Amino acid sequence: MSNRTFTMIKPDAMRNGHAGAIIDRFIKEGFRIVALKQTKLSAEKAGEFYAVHKERPFYGELVDFMSSGVIVAAILEKENAVAAFRELIGATNPSQAAEGTIRKLYATSVGENAVHGSDSDENAKIEGSFFFSGLEQF
Ligand code: RTP
Ligand code: MG
Repeated sequence: MSNRTFTMIKPDAMRNGHAGAIIDRFIKEGFRIVALKQTKLSAEKAGEFYAVHKERPFYGELVDFMSSGVIVAAILEKENAVAAFRELIGATNPSQAAEGTIRKLYATSVGENAVHGSDSDENAKIEGSFFFSGLEQF
C-alpha cells in the first residue's frame, strides 16, 4: 500500500476563496505536504489529465471547468492516503457528501466540486508525476 495521494483544489474553490481553509484542513487531518503549487491547466492538459473520462457526457464541461482558472496541485502523505483522503473529501456530488467533508462544506455542484482526489495508488503516482518532478517532492 502506498501512503501518498494526489489532490487539486479546483477552480471553483480557488475563485470562492477556500484554498487556505482547505489546505489547513489537509494538515489538521494529518496529511503531510510532499509537494504543493499553484498553476493553471490549459484545455489540452486538463483533457489529458481526465482522459479516462473522454467518453463520458460531462467530459467537455469538465475540461472547460478545470481549465477555467488557477488550481492548487499537491501530493499528500498519510497512512492509507488514497482511501483516507477520499473519505475526507466526501462523495463526488456534494448533495450526497457526508457532513463535515470538504465537498459538503465547499463544493457547489457535482461538476464544480472543490477538490480532486486520486482513486488508486497507481493513479496517485501517475497524477503526482503529471505535475511534479522528483526535485519538487520532499
Ligand atoms: P475527482 O476525480 O475529480 O476526484 O472526482 P471523483 O473521483 O469523485 O469523480 P469522477 O467520477 O472521477 O469524476 C471526475 C469529475 O468529473 C466531474 N463530473 N461531472 N456532471 C456530472 O455528472 C459529472 N460527473 C462527474 C466532477 O468534477 C468529478 O469530480
Ligand atoms: Mg476521479
